[in-house]
Amino acid sequence: MEAQFITKDAGLTFWLARPQDFDEVALDSGLVVDGGQTVVMEGLRVCMSERGHGVAGVIQQVTDSYVKQVYPSVNTKRLTRGDNPPPEKLSKFTVLAQRAILTLCGEAESFKGFVLGLRAKLDTMEKLNDNKNCLVAVKDSHQLKALLLDPDLSSRLQLPGGAIIQDWQPLKPIESNLEILERRNLTWLANCASDKPTFMSFHTPAYPIPFNGGSLRFNIDMFGANLSLARKALIAHLEQETGEFHKCVLVNIYMPQTIWEGMREFCEGHEGVKQCRNYWSQLFLEQEIP
Ligand SMILES: CC(C)(COP(=O)(O)OP(=O)(O)OC[C@H]1O[C@@H](n2cnc3c(N)ncnc32)[C@H](O)[C@@H]1OP(=O)(O)O)[C@@H](O)C(=O)NCCC(=O)NCCS
Repeated sequence: MEAQFITKDAGLTFWLARPQDFDEVALDSGLVVDGGQTVVMEGLRVCMSERGHGVAGVIQQVTDSYVKQVYPSVNTKRLTRGDNPPPEKLSKFTVLAQRAILTLCGEAESFKGFVLGLRAKLDTMEKLNDNKNCLVAVKDSHQLKALLLDPDLSSRLQLPGGAIIQDWQPLKPIESNLEILERRNLTWLANCASDKPTFMSFHTPAYPIPFNGGSLRFNIDMFGANLSLARKALIAHLEQETGEFHKCVLVNIYMPQTIWEGMREFCEGHEGVKQCRNYWSQLFLEQEIP
């Protein structure tokens, strides 16, 4: 495939990235969502030797104008960041929400024992509290559609910035985005107390990352601030996926800030699967593209 020239800016030359460029390029990519109004930034990368000189800022400006040129209906950019930037770096954005992240890691073979331990802890807690909250799988696209397109969903689940954030990618729960969510092969759970759930979670199938010489990353996104359901959801998601685990596994659990400490305590005490990063968070930002 021949490289397609885009522009020159700040002494840099920009081309449309091709698969064969992957190992070299500094790059930025986006996905047009929300019925063509929003671009969600997906991947931003600058090669090691060029970092810290503002290259990421230039790429983002060039990408914004390129997106606007190809998709004139786009008027908003949305992105998530996990690097806790200082306030001056955020002045051009509206901060829509912040979610807490609990990161655990361990060798694949340790996860079975970890989950058994969590289940034993949960059983003790539930007996003490006589807790009847339960979770059910959202199995087909019909059920998922009913769940996600319910107009009360955002307020009941306190969706961050009114969006469902799937593995760092924020999407409004609207019909045109359902197809994007469906092709991600997510496994969904919601509480079964009523047909108006107050808790929802899903996991993305584990995928390879370079961490530690080659690992898997497993992401669980949780919406709704019910700690008891969040504990159950964690167990259920891990139980469904641990059979696929191999090598080292990094688990990121994204959740409302109010339940982070409770989840951290729930997960502590196992020899093989440990918290491997202090509290960190996901910032959800929005910027107009004029
Ligand atoms: C994050 C990364 C792209 C930053 O590249 P860089 O060229 O060193 O960035 P700089 O520190 O010089 O900052 C340049 C601009 O990019 C912005 N920026 C830095 N990190 C960013 C991030 N994660 N998301 C969005 N913007 C970011 C800075 O705020 C700055 O903005 P400004 O121009 O408005 O001042 C680079 O360190 C990298 O490739 N890291 C590994 C991959 C990664 O973590 N990507 C981000 C998540 S997808």
